[in-house]
Amino acid sequence: MKNIYRVTRPAWATVDKTEKIVILLASLVVGIYGGWGERFAAALLGPWVGRQPIHHVWPLVDVVVVTAGCLLLIKLYKRLRVGCYPSTFIYCFYMPDDSIPSGKAPVVGFCHIKADMASGEIVAKGASFVWNNGHIDIHSRTGFTSTEVRGTKEAEEVTCHIYFDIDRADWRNRTYHYGVLRFQLASGDMTVTSCNTYAGYLLSTNKELEPNPKAIDVHAWGYAERYDKGLVTENDIRTKLAANGHVSFAKLDTMLGSVPPPNLWRSENLMSTSKPNIWKHQVPSPQSVMLNAMLRPYIDQYLDKVLSLFGLSADAIRCFKGLAVEKAVLERDNVVAYERALKHGLIGLIVPANEDQALNQRAAIIYGQIAPYLCGDSLLDIGCGNGLIADLARGHFKEIQLLDVVRYLPNALHLPFKLYAEGQPLIDHPFDTVLLLTVLHHSKNPVELLKLAWNATTKHLIIIESVVDVHKAEPSASYELLGLPIEDQIAFAAFVDWFYNRVLHDDVPVPYNFTTPEQWRSIFLENNMRLTQQVHLGQDIDIGPEYHILFVLER
Ligand SMILES: C[S@@+](CC[C@H](N)C(=O)[O-])C[C@H]1O[C@@H](n2cnc3c(N)ncnc32)[C@H](O)[C@@H]1O
Repeated sequence: MKNIYRVTRPAWATVDKTEKIVILLASLVVGIYGGWGERFAAALLGPWVGRQPIHHVWPLVDVVVVTAGCLLLIKLYKRLRVGCYPSTFIYCFYMPDDSIPSGKAPVVGFCHIKADMASGEIVAKGASFVWNNGHIDIHSRTGFTSTEVRGTKEAEEVTCHIYFDIDRADWRNRTYHYGVLRFQLASGDMTVTSCNTYAGYLLSTNKELEPNPKAIDVHAWGYAERYDKGLVTENDIRTKLAANGHVSFAKLDTMLGSVPPPNLWRSENLMSTSKPNIWKHQVPSPQSVMLNAMLRPYIDQYLDKVLSLFGLSADAIRCFKGLAVEKAVLERDNVVAYERALKHGLIGLIVPANEDQALNQRAAIIYGQIAPYLCGDSLLDIGCGNGLIADLARGHFKEIQLLDVVRYLPNALHLPFKLYAEGQPLIDHPFDTVLLLTVLHHSKNPVELLKLAWNATTKHLIIIESVVDVHKAEPSASYELLGLPIEDQIAFAAFVDWFYNRVLHDDVPVPYNFTTPEQWRSIFLENNMRLTQQVHLGQDIDIGPEYHILFVLER
C-alpha cells in the first residue's frame, strides 16, 4: 500500500526518506570513486601492471564505470520505487444481492498488481468468483482490468484506489460494469493483525458510455491480503481460494464486528441514509445505527438485554449480533430485507414462555405508572397493541374499547376491538379515560391523532411518549444517553423502536416521529389541553429502553 502511494504519487512530490538515503549513498559512492578510485586501483593492481598504465587508461575506466554505475543506479532506483510489486492479492467481498444477477452475494477473488516499467503505470488485473455455500463457482468468473491505480495518503493512512472495468465478456455477471476498489491496511486495533491484511471497499460507478444508463450504486465491504510477492498463476490461486475462502470470510466478519470499524469504512459516511421525520429531525436507518461505532456499545447492551429476556443463550445472542452487523452491511439500502434477515435469524431461538413473561412484565410496569390516573367508567385504549395493559385495567371500568391500526391481540383476550385506519374518525362516543401509550411517535400525523384522542376524552387523556433531546438528569428517571447529542438519542430510539416493533413484533408502523418534551408541552398549550401531570419515567422498560415521559391531560 505504501508502495502504491510512492509509485503513483506525482513525480514532483517530495522525495521521501528512503529515497533521500539512497540518493545520498549513491552520491557518496560516486564521490569516493572520484576522490580515491584511481589511487585505490593503483594500490591494488600497481604491483602487477605498474602505476603508469593505470594512470593512462583511467579516463576510459572512468567513462565505463560511471556510465555502468549510473545505469545500475537507475535500475535499482526504479526497483526500489515499485517496492513489492509485482504481487498477488486475494480478497473476499459481501456483495449486495442486486449487484449479481444470480442474486448470490459473497465473492472471492484475486488481483495481480504489477508495475509497467515502460509506461510508468501500476496496473491491476484479476477476477472474482461467487462463493457458493463454501465452494468457489468457477463458471461465475468475472474478470476486471484497471484503468487507473493510484494511492492517496491522509493522516498517515494510505489508501489504494483501483479504478476498473469489468471485462466485456463478463458483463452479464454483474449489474454494473465499472467501479472502484479501495484498500487500506487494517488498523492496529483490529483483531486481524497481520501487516498484510486490508479492509476493502467496492463502489460501482457509471460511465456515460454505459449502454443502458441505470443508477447503479453498489457498495460492498471486503477483506484482502497479500498472497504472494510475485504473479501466481490463476490455477494456483483458485486452489488457494477454494481451500481458504472460508478463512477470508471469517476475517471479514471479524472486521465487520470490530469497534471501531476500519477507518476506510468509517469514512464512507455510513450515517448518510437518514430521513427527516415529521418534526424535521433526521432519523438514520437501523442499518446505519448498527454500524455506528459510537452507538454500538449501547445497541449491544440493548440486544443483550432484550434477547436474553426473550430466552436466547449468550452464544445465540453473540451469533445474532454478528448477523445483525453483517446484514447491516449487505442490506445497507434495503431496510425490508434487513428486517427479514433479522427475523429469520431469530427463528427457533425465542422461547415463547420467556417472551410472554417479558411482555407481561412490561405491561405490569406501565399499568403501575398509569393506574393512579385511571378514572370514570369507560376506557378507550388507542394503539392498544397486544392489549395487555387494558386487560390489567379491567377491574376499573364498566366499558373498555380497544383500537389499533394493526390487530395483534391474543385470542384469549375477550375485549372489544376496532381496527382503525389513520385519518378516519376515531370512535362514535367519548370515553372517561383515554390512553395513548407509546403510540404518538408511531402515527404518521401525531398532532392529528392527539386532537382526535382529546376530542374522545371526557376526563383524563393519559399519554406515555418516547422523547428525545433530554439532557437534564431527573430523580425519577434513568437515561444512559443523557450526555449524548439529540442526533444520537434519536438514532438509538429509532433502532430500539424498529427492533421492538418490526423484528420482535410484526408490521407495526414505525415513522420514528419522536420529538422533544418541550414540543409536546407547547402543542398541549396551543390546543388548550390542560396538562396536570408530567412524570419522567426514563428508560423504564428493558425490552424497549426509549426515554419515556408520562403526561396527563385533564378536561
Ligand atoms: C409501541 S406499540 C404500543 C402498544 C400499546 N399501547 C402498549 O403500550 O403496549 C404502538 C402501537 O401504536 C399503534 N399505532 C400506530 N399508529 C397508530 C395510529 N395512527 N392510530 C392508532 N394506533 C396506532 C401500533 O399499531 C402499535 O400497536
